[in-house]
Parts: sequence; structure tokens; C-alpha cells
Amino acid sequence: MVTLMLAGRRVILGVAGGIAAYKAAEIAGTLVKRGAEVQVIMTRAAREFITPLTLQTITRHEVASDMFTPRSGGVAHIEVARWGEAMLIAPATANLIGKMAAGIGDDLLSTIVLAFDRSVLLCPAMNTTMYRNPVVQRNIRTLSALGYHFVEPCSGRLACGEEGPGRLAPTDEIVAKLESLLCGVPRDLAGVRILITAGPTREPLDPVRYISNRSSGKMGYAVARAAVDRGAYVVLVSGPSALSPPPGVKVVPVETAEEMHLAVNQHFEWCDVAVKAAAVADYRPQTQAGGKLKKRAANLTLILEPNRDILAELGRRKGRRIIVGFAAETEQLEARAVLKAQKKGADLIVANDVTKLGAGFDVDTNIAVFAYPDGRTVSLPLMEKLALAHRILDEVRELRKAGADNG
Ligand SMILES: Cc1cc2nc3c(=O)[nH]c(=O)nc-3n(C[C@H](O)[C@H](O)[C@H](O)COP(=O)(O)O)c2cc1C
Repeated sequence: MVTLMLAGRRVILGVAGGIAAYKAAEIAGTLVKRGAEVQVIMTRAAREFITPLTLQTITRHEVASDMFTPRSGGVAHIEVARWGEAMLIAPATANLIGKMAAGIGDDLLSTIVLAFDRSVLLCPAMNTTMYRNPVVQRNIRTLSALGYHFVEPCSGRLACGEEGPGRLAPTDEIVAKLESLLCGVPRDLAGVRILITAGPTREPLDPVRYISNRSSGKMGYAVARAAVDRGAYVVLVSGPSALSPPPGVKVVPVETAEEMHLAVNQHFEWCDVAVKAAAVADYRPQTQAGGKLKKRAANLTLILEPNRDILAELGRRKGRRIIVGFAAETEQLEARAVLKAQKKGADLIVANDVTKLGAGFDVDTNIAVFAYPDGRTVSLPLMEKLALAHRILDEVRELRKAGADNG
């Protein structure tokens, strides 16, 4: 059972006629997987890039495009606009953005937009020169000022061969933004400075080999995203990860535990809260070969020496800061997590049994236990990492309040 932030939420997915229209299939699939009901509205141009049948099959809803097809249930654009709780337009073409900025409703999608009075999230995607065109930029500013929301396109190599901004933002970013609009994320951490660590570390053996672990960075990145959405300033010290950092986060990339230690130390004075979600290697090879180790017939013995315990060091100099640590365990979860909170001076340890299905490394969900230094533990159900990130930040907010109340 997965906690579905979009369970039962009614989303109108508008698809306009850009080369990225095929990505609407992945977006629709992700929304459906998260429990949303999705009604797709395509422009005529969009049908040149992806078939309605594909989107209809994914969403299990008939796809509409035409204003004037007679319906038994009433006027299409009004019915759909009344039905939807939020509208997501991905991709949004320069043409559609222009029409919206000018108040034009000359097809089903643009007319639904005019008849819709809740949150609309636009995800522009187009050729870089088109995106930078001052008219397009003016239209985006006009719509932003009117309360329309945007997920900016990202930079990269575009289908037309140009490099620059214009690629449709990644699906997870689009869906996270929609979730935060629909679930009304509070701005209750506005101005709070949060230092977050994420991902694994790599401890080199020689110039081409290293010792590492299975951490993907998903938990730490989810905390960073949730914190930014709630108004915090975020510095994310990240070990190697394939994930794109959430917009608005300052990323400090590191590789080894020692580099992570240095980066964390550098930013610790600055922060009000430290969330240590990185899986820092406990040990590193005692010696690092200058050249590639050669294969030999004999056994190779590695001597490992312990890395510094970053969490414990921070705990000793925490002052009024709130420190959240993580513990991946395979047995005696609660007892070990409480002990860790006590020994390391952490205010909260988020522990999870990495042998459980749906918990731990490289999955989108987690099953966590909150453990406190006073011995209390709270078990949480299986939930998405983003939902868990919000629970952790709820807790951080309460701990800060309790700290302030106690002088
Ligand atoms: C191959 C091809 C790719 C296109 N890609 C884009 C695009 O990525 N973004 C965009 O704004 N327009 C793109 N266009 C132009 C739109 O299809 C055109 O402006 C159309 O009128 C948009 O209609 P709509 O906004 O009603 O969907 C493309 C056109 C072609 C032929």
C-alpha cells in the first residue's frame, strides 16, 4: 500500500502541439500511478505528435479535443472545467501561452482555460530561440502576474539540435509541483536555513575504483524539495547522484566522506537545521594507490580505516540548531535508533529497516520510525519519500517551536 498524495484528485491534463507532447504519456502515467483521475484535453496540433488512443489507454478516460462534438452530458468546456481540481498543461506551446495571455479561446483547451478558476500549472517546452523570444517571455510574465504557475523548462540539447533552455522539465518535477499546488503545501519554513546531506560517498582505492553504497540520494533530495517548497533556504551537500536537484537549492557536490565532512563543516555555522540523509561510508581504504591496482594471482587484502563521524561532531557543537539524522538498520530498529539519537546528540533519528519491501535504497517509498533521545518512537506507515520528507519537516517545525518555548 503506497500513500498516494494525488489519490482521487481530478486533474485536467492539457497537451499542446510541441515535440515534447509524447512526454505527456509519461506524465499521465505518473499521475494515474499516484491515484489521480486524469482527463486529457489535446489541441489539434498535439494529435500530430501523439495519438489520443495512447493517452486514453493510459488514463482510462476518453480524450477530448473538439469543442463542437455533441455530448450527452452538457457543454464540454464548462463540464470539464467544473470537474477539474487543477489543470496541468504539459507541454505548453508558445502559441498556447500567447493565446492564454491574450484571453483567446479558439479551441477546446484554450476555452477550458478561460472557464477554469483554480490552479493552472504550465510547463513550457519549445526551441531555445522561441523560448527566449521577448514576446514569449512577456506572455509568461503576464500569466505569472495573473497567478498562473510555471515549471520552467530545463537546458539541454533540443530535438531541433540547438542547446539551451526549452526542454520540458522532468516528469517528477512537474508532478511534485502539481502535488504541492493541490495539497496546499504551507510556507511554514520561510527563511529557515536548512543544511541537507544526501547520496552516497565514494572512497577511492585507486584512480578508477572506489568503495561506495547503494544510496540513490532520493530521500535527501525529497527533503530538499519539500523544504524549498515550504520556503526554506536550502544547501544540499550531495554525494554522487543521478537525480536533478530541485530548483532553488544551492548544491555542493562532493565525493568522499572527507569532502562531505569539509562541506558540512563549512555550512554548519550558517544553518538553523541540519538534516543528514547521506549514507556516508564508515570506512575508507587506508592507502590510495597512485596508479591502477594490477590484477595478480594472490589475494588482495584491503585495510580500511574509519572515517570521521560527521553526525556526532555536529551533535557536539549544535547550539540551538535542530539536527536530524538517519539510520538504516537491519534489526532492532527502534532500540538502535534511540541509542543513536542519544549518542550523537540528534533531536530526531529517522530509522528504516532496509530489508523491508518498499523501504530503503533506490525506491520512491520508505517505512520509517521516528526515534527521539528521550526514548520515544513513532512508527510511520509505508509512504512516498516526498510525503515522508514533509513529515520530517513537520517534526522539525515542532522541535524548533519547543526549543523557542523553552527559551
Ligand atoms: C515538428 C514540429 C515541432 C514543433 N515543436 C514545437 C515545440 O516544441 N514548442 C512549440 O511551442 N511549438 C512547436 N511547434 C509549433 C506548434 O506545433 C504550432 O505553433 C502549433 O500551432 C501549436 O498549436 P497548439 O498550441 O494549439 O498546440 C512545432 C511544430 C512542428 C511542425
